[in-house]
Parts: sequence; structure tokens; C-alpha cells
Amino acid sequence: MNLKELVGEKAAEYVKDGMVVGLGTGSTAYYMVEAIGRRVKEGLDIVGVTTSNRTKEQAEGLGIPLKSVDEVDRIDLTIDGADEISKDFQGIKGGGAAHLFEKIVADNSDKVIWIVDDSKMVETLGAFPLPVEVIPYGSQQLFRTFEQKGYKPAFRKTESNEKLVTDAGHYIIDLHMEVIEEPHSLATWLDSLTGVVEHGLFLDSVNTVIVGGENGVEILE
Ligand code: 5RP
Repeated sequence: MNLKELVGEKAAEYVKDGMVVGLGTGSTAYYMVEAIGRRVKEGLDIVGVTTSNRTKEQAEGLGIPLKSVDEVDRIDLTIDGADEISKDFQGIKGGGAAHLFEKIVADNSDKVIWIVDDSKMVETLGAFPLPVEVIPYGSQQLFRTFEQKGYKPAFRKTESNEKLVTDAGHYIIDLHMEVIEEPHSLATWLDSLTGVVEHGLFLDSVNTVIVGGENGVEILE
């Protein structure tokens, strides 16, 4: 079993009958969704809320009952991957271009679990490019603003070199900052920019991190 599968399986154990469960996106979350799908076939009674079209297709294929985020009162538990997690549990997400829906689902969840392999655990955030989702109109102006700040922006591209369009119809600008010393002030600034829909800084938003490493699974709370 690879590390992503290991943590995905472990996280699925936190899901109990009657829960509304936020289902994250990415190659690690994939295994968690598969494990929950198997348990649903064995009788587990839950409702899933997906965070991307990809996860929705997977969950539908597995027969997991689904509702949209707007059809539920509250989400009991969300399980998702992450791209980087600092020592103080702050995170970067959005490597899979799903961080807007992921953040909406996380913000409406009573508990959030991240599942990662130990390569994602870092001292300081920033080596992973920080995704910023922007509306297409005026996005070149935002790009210039980021360039002037020295953040080395790059539009996320598809394999055919088109600008990637997210599930919500926006572009992603990745910021190559290398080190983010003050994630909270950066988040406040990004939040203040007109045309920025959401950034990939997930601050003070996780309760439990399940980390897979060569010695197995570690649970950080
Ligand atoms: C998608 C995400 C993913 O959770 C994150 O990119 C981790 O993905 P993976 O498990 O494939 O490394 O934020 O937007």
C-alpha cells in the first residue's frame, strides 16, 4: 500500500453512520473516497459533499449518496489532501485547482482532517507555488500586481498550453514565493484584491493531520 493509500484508508475510519462528509480532491483524497465507497457498499449510511467535478464523478461511480453544499445544514467532517503543511498547521492547497470549493466546504465543516505523506510537512510555507484563483476579467492586471511584488506569478496552464479554467470558471495564478514568512498578512492582502476569488492559504482551518511515512501513520492534533 502506498503512503497516499495508507492515509486515505486511515481517514475513512473517522467516518461514522449518519454523518455529512466533505470529500476532498486530489490523488490522496482519491484513496479516501475509494475507501468510503467500499464502506457505503457494506452499509455505511452517509451523505457526501464533493469539492470538485472530479471527486463528484468518482463518488457517483462508487454509489456514495451526495448533496450539494447548499443542500445541507452543516458538514460533520471534511477529509482532504494538502500541498504543504507548516509546523504550526497552516497549509497551502489548490495544487489540483480545487481550493475554492475545498475552502467553502472546509469553512462549513465541524471538523477538518488533512491527509498527506510526510514530504508535505515543511518548516515554512512557500516552496510550493501558492495558487490564487482569479476571475478572467482583469486577471492580467492582477498578474502585473503580483509581478511588481516579486512573487513570480504564472498562469496555470493545461497540457495544451491553454489557461486552465477551474470548475467555477476562473483562472489560477500560481505565486512562486519560495518562503511565506507571514501567511496571515499575505492572506489578508490577497483577500483585499478585487478579482481574487480565493487563494490557497488555509489558515487555522485544520483539526487533525494524518501523515504517512516510512514508519506508518502518525496522527497530529
Ligand atoms: C486540490 C488540493 C489537493 O488536496 C492538494 O493539491 C493535494 O493533492 P495530492 O493529494 O494529489 O498531492 O488542494 O486543489
